[in-house]
Amino acid sequence: MAATQAQAPAPEVLGAFEAAKGFMPVHEGLALYAAAREAAALGLPLLEVGTYCGRSTILLADAARAAGVSVITVDHHRGSEEQQPGWDYHDPQTVDPEVGRMDTLPTFRRTLHKAGLEDHVIAVVGRSPQVARIWRAPLGLVFIDGGHTDEHASADYEGWAPHVAEGGLLVIHDVFPDPVDEWTGQAPYRVYLRALESGMFTETSVTDSLRVLRRTGAAGSGRG
Ligand SMILES: C[S@@+](CC[C@H](N)C(=O)[O-])C[C@H]1O[C@@H](n2cnc3c(N)ncnc32)[C@H](O)[C@@H]1O
Repeated sequence: MAATQAQAPAPEVLGAFEAAKGFMPVHEGLALYAAAREAAALGLPLLEVGTYCGRSTILLADAARAAGVSVITVDHHRGSEEQQPGWDYHDPQTVDPEVGRMDTLPTFRRTLHKAGLEDHVIAVVGRSPQVARIWRAPLGLVFIDGGHTDEHASADYEGWAPHVAEGGLLVIHDVFPDPVDEWTGQAPYRVYLRALESGMFTETSVTDSLRVLRRTGAAGSGRG
């Protein structure tokens, strides 16, 4: 499903997304936005794993605002493996000089403030599996864009996919079926395959590395 006119963000929202630090290209952002608009109509919160500096959060928050729901965005704000010093995706500006470690929380807060979307987002600072363990509420959408190792991507899937309500959407970023395209590994692809094989999810759209799946079945209806 492509982002239709009605599902496209307003120019100022798209402008804020483009101006924010982050890695998601515009065409994938538009697909995420379309999914978020659709899922938010269920009247349930939307949840993101992997806030970074808030680039994708802007789109989720605008979709949530339109439907009167909230976005929960989870991140420990210390960066993923490939964002650490010495790696391709490192941004020295994200390092807290006092602590000597990455801290993307201040940039995230400025991003949301500038976009005027603070009131629609609940930021959770913590490790995704730890937060998932105590989470109880059904979700309209889960967007997985956290750590890209098998350990992290699997934990995100296991922790959050069961909370997607029937009819809700599971969105996975950086799904690269061809190892030639990989830059941080194929863990998101393996999680995507697992979701399809579980029998709980059916694919609804593919936009480059962004995959949207709908929850159509109950837990235990496939291979898990
Ligand atoms: C690829 S970035 C997210 C990009 C963001 N969605 C965007 O579009 O700009 C991945 C983020 O996941 C966070 N992260 C990685 N593993 C995590 C974990 N186990 N728990 C919480 N956050 C994690 C990192 O700190 C990093 O900010």
